[in-house]
Amino acid sequence: MDKIIINGGNPLKGKVTLGGAKNAVLPIMAASLLVDGTTHISRVPDLRDTRTMIKLLELVGGKAHLEGNDLWIDSKHVNKPVAPYDLVKTMRASFYVLGPLLARFGEAKVSLPGGCAWGPRPVDYHLQGLEMLGAKVTLESGYIRAKAKRLKGNHIRFDFPSVGATGNILMAAVTADGTTEIENAAREPEIMQLCQFLNSMGAKISGIGTHKIFIKGVNDLSPCDVSIIPDRIEAGTFLIAGAALGEVTVLEGEPDHLKVLLEKLEQTGANISISGKDICVRKGDVILPVDVETEVFPGYPTDLQAQWIALMTKAESDSVVTDTVYHDRFSHVAELNRFGADIRVLKNVASIKGKADLVGAPVMSTDIRASASLIIGGLMAKGKTEISRVYHIDRGYENIEEKFSSLGADITRLN
Ligand code: EPZ
Repeated sequence: MDKIIINGGNPLKGKVTLGGAKNAVLPIMAASLLVDGTTHISRVPDLRDTRTMIKLLELVGGKAHLEGNDLWIDSKHVNKPVAPYDLVKTMRASFYVLGPLLARFGEAKVSLPGGCAWGPRPVDYHLQGLEMLGAKVTLESGYIRAKAKRLKGNHIRFDFPSVGATGNILMAAVTADGTTEIENAAREPEIMQLCQFLNSMGAKISGIGTHKIFIKGVNDLSPCDVSIIPDRIEAGTFLIAGAALGEVTVLEGEPDHLKVLLEKLEQTGANISISGKDICVRKGDVILPVDVETEVFPGYPTDLQAQWIALMTKAESDSVVTDTVYHDRFSHVAELNRFGADIRVLKNVASIKGKADLVGAPVMSTDIRASASLIIGGLMAKGKTEISRVYHIDRGYENIEEKFSSLGADITRLN
């Protein structure tokens, strides 16, 4: 089991290249199942999750070829619309294959994803949406079985703008009979790119980037190429580290995807400068306390909540972080407190004492973004930190320790 070792205290200075967005490439890989041909996806990040999705596409009969950050998926011979439990349980995004497999084959059998480190993560909106499109959905020994001779467009409204449910319903609706309206749809950039990708395949989607998306069903889709947008959460992770420890520039980012984070970083006293698509954050003389409340896009992302809490342990005074998207996404707090932080959680609110005297310690990753907060904590702490269960971080970050090392961090991986 790999470990990451950090000797904390080094200032960070330098530039980081970003990978393609994990949360854009996963649904787009699933969408390649809709066509009888080869899809070429470039700027694919080399992650555990993308490799898991490749395994899943091959299990259903697809052929995948990954060369560096280029991926070719041939879905011509896809013939087994089944996603098994032992694979789905390792990556919840596997559930994205349900919509496209149902749309293409009229049936699909996908294991119900389990919970994750921070609690149950239901898929009821996905299932209700598919039923609204005319599918018969049943649960059979932990597997969702969906059947529909022909999906029919309908008006679907989500109680919460779920990213995954929006993606699944989009992929199911593009070849349905008639028009589908998704009300209270997710507006995340990753969903916008999925819509644009589907349209380049021949779909007719409008309202992209709004909470009301219309999908006019078409009969045929054809394969096309796509280059994945930069990963805004990877970018935000490095920019928060810059505000904590020096000066970090992320190259070829999308400033528009990070507006709220950049505003919050400026409020800490950090200096933000943008030139074209390059975003630079330089730590202020002190780190001022700034409260954050996560929201769906374009609000402050829940996927940067853990990293913000790590930063706030070094603020001049106390702060509060509230997660309105996942009310129990705080498994990183107990680990950060092992560094000597003083963070209390009540319901979905974390109260962080500032000016913590952080000392390196052995800590344990529990999920992708919690791991990132432990790296930031270890970089800020005095002395040695050892992070175990780093397979979590490899799910969502490509070469993270090499990138931090190039910024001046004393960080290595122990195989
Ligand atoms: C996506 O997860 C991301 N994953 C998550 O990133 C991200 O945290 C999340 O969106 C929110 O932005 C991928 O894109 C692969 P949701 P998803 O459906 O689709 C509730 C990371 O670290 N809900 O928008 O699963 C749900 O419980 C990962 O990269 C239902 O109640 O998130 C949650 O409270 C972690 N029923 C809220 O909606 C449903 O059917 C948002 O979930 C679906 C969701």
